[in-house]
Amino acid sequence: MTEGASTLMDMRLLAAQAVAREAGAMARRRFLDQSFTVAFKGPQDFLTEVDGETETLIAERLLEIFPGDGFIGEESKARPAGEGGAAWVVDPIDGTANFARGVPHFCVSIASVADKVEVGVIYDPMRDELFSSRRGGGARLNGALMRASAASELASSAIEVGWNTRAGPEQFADLLLRVASTGASPSRTGSGALALAYVAAGRRDGFVEHHINAWDCLAGILLVTEAGGYVNDFLRRDGLTKGNPLVACAPGVKDALIAAAAFDGVLA
Ligand code: IPD
Ligand code: CA
Ligand code: CA
Repeated sequence: MTEGASTLMDMRLLAAQAVAREAGAMARRRFLDQSFTVAFKGPQDFLTEVDGETETLIAERLLEIFPGDGFIGEESKARPAGEGGAAWVVDPIDGTANFARGVPHFCVSIASVADKVEVGVIYDPMRDELFSSRRGGGARLNGALMRASAASELASSAIEVGWNTRAGPEQFADLLLRVASTGASPSRTGSGALALAYVAAGRRDGFVEHHINAWDCLAGILLVTEAGGYVNDFLRRDGLTKGNPLVACAPGVKDALIAAAAFDGVLA
């Protein structure tokens, strides 16, 4: 990356942080006054109007500053990048089922991708926690550097097992059993993005999910990598547009978690 392109990417980090805070504050207000209706995109796939409104705000703000950039968001049609532009990959609210049910555990997730994920920002507006990273610059929580945990065995680890309706119940139950059989303590808190931020912060030792979309995980992937953790090559094949399996964890449990997840042939 040229010096000019790198400086532009630093500006994207600043923009993403400011926009994540603004969007998160809006989602927080709506969550607290419960001024939204709940609908479903499919079984267990919650949607509120706040998802769409928050994504519109994020897209408007970012594309006003970086008009040549592309935009891939969970709630809108993808817009391609112009010549030399990067792509924003955004989940306006990750943890929508929590949001809709009154559980204060959700976040805004914003990543910027050129050839690689260059910027990752996750904002939890209920705890006022801003997780941010720039490739090569470390991962931070409210400005302070974070490191993945020093866990060296799964038997004393805490592992988030992602669940969604894209994988069948047998697949999920099998993954849960595999993780639990190692002696790890499994959890499922309903926000893949925040779970990854927690792995980066050392609050969890790992995260696994059979299939996850790019908007759920790209910001978190950079956070974990920059915090010294392991993440499989999520962008390979059509990861950006179609999603992929994901294993992310503290470096000391990498081999054991890869073996437990048994996502054979898909992890690089
Ligand atoms: C979901 C959450 C969930 C993960 C799913 C995602 P949403 O996103 O991150 O934890 O397991 O794969 O689809 O619907 O809350 O934006
Ligand atoms: Ca999501
Ligand atoms: Ca979402």
